[in-house]
Amino acid sequence: MNTLTNKRVLLGVSGSIAAYKSPDIVRRLQDLGAEVRVVITSGGREFVSERSLQTISKNKVHDNLWDKDAELSMGHIELAKWADIVIIAPASANTIAKLCHGKADDLLSTVILATSATVMIAPSMNQQMYASLAMKENLQLLKSRNVIIIEPGFGEQACGDVGEGRLAEPIDIAQQAAELFLSNSLSGKKVLITIGGTIEAIDPVRFISNHSSGKMGMSLAHACIQAGAKTTLVVGSISIEVERRAETIFVTSASEMYDAVMNNITSQDLFISCAAVADYRPSKVSLNKIKKTSSIKSIQLIENKDILASVCKLKDKPICIGFAAETENLISNAKHKLKNKKCDAIILNDISNSEIGLKSDENEVHFISEKNSEKIDKNSKQIIAEIIINKIAKYFF
Ligand code: PMT
Repeated sequence: MNTLTNKRVLLGVSGSIAAYKSPDIVRRLQDLGAEVRVVITSGGREFVSERSLQTISKNKVHDNLWDKDAELSMGHIELAKWADIVIIAPASANTIAKLCHGKADDLLSTVILATSATVMIAPSMNQQMYASLAMKENLQLLKSRNVIIIEPGFGEQACGDVGEGRLAEPIDIAQQAAELFLSNSLSGKKVLITIGGTIEAIDPVRFISNHSSGKMGMSLAHACIQAGAKTTLVVGSISIEVERRAETIFVTSASEMYDAVMNNITSQDLFISCAAVADYRPSKVSLNKIKKTSSIKSIQLIENKDILASVCKLKDKPICIGFAAETENLISNAKHKLKNKKCDAIILNDISNSEIGLKSDENEVHFISEKNSEKIDKNSKQIIAEIIINKIAKYFF
């Protein structure tokens, strides 16, 4: 597996003669498995054709902060969120100075301010400019803000000078980016995740469901993809966007979710049951809308099949990770579920606290297995998901 497989790289091309090498950088990143999109500055456009970058990246090149079409579909915020890593190569002296000051006067500088992804820059300029005190201090400042500097090379420059300031080789830029993702802890593994709530119909209008937003499950999906896994999602009712790099099966009810999981579980290495599956469904679904005047005043319920427990019983079962959504006796209830459902580990979350668990952007969980019980402190669901996936990789693969 290539070390940039499943990774989304946003390449920023700024105004330096070395911009002519940027199509080669795109190629090298793709060779390592990355999906690449390009943002180019007006300076960059002077040295390389957008058409070359568009053809090689197989994506539209983004250049305009005020492009109405772009704002509707892939605006600066979407680009900033889309990227797993942003690489500015070549990074001109002017672009570096703008980053230092947090300027947002073009698409690239605005994306950099708006992204939470790791930022790498590959400076490229005349050796005298590179040696200047202003440049040294600017690079020092960016380093202190966790920007990764890809050191330039030494040699003859386009202007005829000899010295330090040549853009690093495209292959070295791609490899340095790949090294950031070396964990690839689930590389080559297949993962199936259930996500969201289920909807149990009462009649054509009413249903029984729950508040699951899908945020925790989708964060796990993202973390699995980052870790190099081939990821399949069985998605119920959610209120967020679907991770489009995964194969996705949409379902409505618990029975449909059961069928989708059972039809796709063979050959999976890991099953994560994050969905909030309804334990019960109405015993009868009325074909017509139940009238206010109807004699039906109560709904009889029957039990749904337990998807997680069923997977755990399979002869060639994958590693099975359940969730426990609890409001009281948290640890003992979760341990009870771990034992009863016979899963390999269970992730406990307290859903009585509105700041964590259901719907919230953050969570706080306990990772409980037969041998360990470890608290993972409150953090964004994405960070919690990454820690969970690292633990799963460490303990089970
Ligand atoms: O989607 P969010 O808004 O981000 O919220 C995330 C979450 C709180 C829903 C999630 O973190 C979570 O706790 N998911 C499990 C919810 C749940 O149904 O928990 P439970 O304790 O009732 O079930 C225990 C386990 O059995 C779960 O892994 C569940 O997926 C599974 N189960 C339950 C019933 C059933 N019929 N089949 C199942 O597979």
